[in-house]
Amino acid sequence: MSFYRISNADKYRTAYQQSVEHPETFWSDIAGHFTWRKRWDKVLEWNFEQPDIKWFRNARLNITENCLDRHLADRGDQPAIIWEPNDPTQANRTITYRELHAQVCKFAHVLKNNGVGRADRVCIYMGMIPELAIAILACARIGAIHSVIFGGFSARSIADRVQDAGAEYVITADGAFRGGKVIELKSVVDDALEQCPFVKRVIVYSRTDTPVSMIQGRDVWWDDELENVHNAGYADFPAEEMDSEDPLFILYTSGSTGKPKGVVHSSGGYMVYATYSFVNVFQYNPGDVYFCTADIGWITGHSYIVYGPLCAGATTVLFEGVPTWPEADRFWEIVDKYKVNILYTAPTAIRSLMAHGTGPIEKHDLSSLKVLGTVGEPINEEAWQWYYENIGKGQCPIVDTWWQTETGGILISNLAGVTPHKPAHATLPLPGVQPILVDDKGNEITGNGVAGNLCIKFPWPSILRTTYGDHERCRQNYFATYPGLYFTGDGCLRDLEGNYRITGRVDDVLNVSGHRIGTAEVENAINMHSGVIESAVVGYPHDIKGQGIYAYVILDSHHHDEKLTRLDINQTVSRLIGPIAKPDQIQFVTGLPKTRSGKIMRRILRKIAEGETENLGDTSTLLDPTIVDEIKNGKL
Ligand code: WTA
Repeated sequence: MSFYRISNADKYRTAYQQSVEHPETFWSDIAGHFTWRKRWDKVLEWNFEQPDIKWFRNARLNITENCLDRHLADRGDQPAIIWEPNDPTQANRTITYRELHAQVCKFAHVLKNNGVGRADRVCIYMGMIPELAIAILACARIGAIHSVIFGGFSARSIADRVQDAGAEYVITADGAFRGGKVIELKSVVDDALEQCPFVKRVIVYSRTDTPVSMIQGRDVWWDDELENVHNAGYADFPAEEMDSEDPLFILYTSGSTGKPKGVVHSSGGYMVYATYSFVNVFQYNPGDVYFCTADIGWITGHSYIVYGPLCAGATTVLFEGVPTWPEADRFWEIVDKYKVNILYTAPTAIRSLMAHGTGPIEKHDLSSLKVLGTVGEPINEEAWQWYYENIGKGQCPIVDTWWQTETGGILISNLAGVTPHKPAHATLPLPGVQPILVDDKGNEITGNGVAGNLCIKFPWPSILRTTYGDHERCRQNYFATYPGLYFTGDGCLRDLEGNYRITGRVDDVLNVSGHRIGTAEVENAINMHSGVIESAVVGYPHDIKGQGIYAYVILDSHHHDEKLTRLDINQTVSRLIGPIAKPDQIQFVTGLPKTRSGKIMRRILRKIAEGETENLGDTSTLLDPTIVDEIKNGKL
């Protein structure tokens, strides 16, 4: 399996050119490396107005045959997943491709026995254990649509997602270990499902031996169900034949307005792009051990822990714990223990580990590393240099990979060792990706040394197809701002050599420790707290998290103990969204800077939160300009 690996800079240029001039031939060649039950009639049909995008028309496949079955002959005994538990003194697990195939097949039988069928939605809320990957793959095997919910989300967030997806099935665990804590997952699910009486079945894996309530007729144990399958003598589970455009999964993500949207990814196009980008960006070689530290609850875990690496036949490390427990050397310990060759992590993790100095690194041999990667937010130069010098010892290229939940895979990044890296720059688009910068009116900004809003003008195979249950929302959000283009929501510079540098969101979406959070979502949660009249949330630069959450809150006229109220508001946000959305700073104010039409001037609030006091820009259109001084003087 060669997967069309671009192995030098000349080949990159040729491939790029071909991908623009003959996109159908380009993608057809790459797709030819996969296992299809039936090939496509046409490579691509698209328009961005609707949007209506179809890749590999009428092709038939099952992604799990590509992730599992086709590896059995050549690398059945090679580890597919190496699992490192939260507690380093506990036994780890190595699961070969053959074992993973067998476990996925068995669990597919479990799903079927419990009534799950093709196109049914299954929500999965688990910690980072192999059973999470098995659950995902088993859904794909039977043609069910999985929707993984990050383990840090609250009951209310789960209920919203289960309802929006109309998921009648949930897979969870009693609890999850994370550092020194046990997270009681099943109990959170129980609270969520109070609002979801239509859920027919909850399958519960036992990981932490946390006491749980099992509701008769609804809840069953993972192990009991497996036992039934075993006793019935089932082994293989023939993969369901899917259409290339059948949805593979839904993943909810925050936007600038309202509730999170269910981004829908396809089967064929997603498979091709996740694998192609994995192999090329990381320059994966057969036998390499690859470790991505993301959580499978986010897109990075979907594309680059599960689907991309497994389709490519790689060995992927799955880590249950956190980088700083029991010591701040967990990543380096894992690299040393499994002789990791490719490490993919996030700037926020790098910055938090920088704070621990080089002591934790010196204890371990990191010489197996060949390639380093980062994702999730712009990486500052200081963190880049630290990563390069201390982890890569000045020997490993760093791939700064820009992409989004909606893009399904990495769109802009250097290719490790093939195209040059540049600190804090995602650098160049992958072949097949056509970025364009536009001004606020949608006019293209050409040439180099320029800045603008980042759009993509031509489809790539893993572009989102819709937002679940609301296609118009998908159109509005991504395809209506600049007609004819996919709008990313990111601002971007193109330097004199044509390298792209992503500068951050230009909409009301925050990026806190690499987690996407909509300001409107946080405001809605704060406003639910009794005593709160109104609030406005903005981001501000934060040393570790990249962005912190700054909330301006107007309280009613009752007496409030400010310290206690801050804690209460945080508690409310934790309950409604999850701890990741808790404001870092809450400033109480008596008013907000609004225009005469009632619109909050966030620009001013952002500047104050950033510590700017002088150049707040034009405040003459404000209804009450004096409020700005009050807010400035009360800045925390
Ligand atoms: C940001 C994560 C700069 C960006 C895969 C994007 C980045 C959002 C980078 C998507 C990067 C991601 N450099 N910014 N290398 N990677 N971003 O959906 O603002 O969780 O729009 O997907 O993260 O976040 P999401």
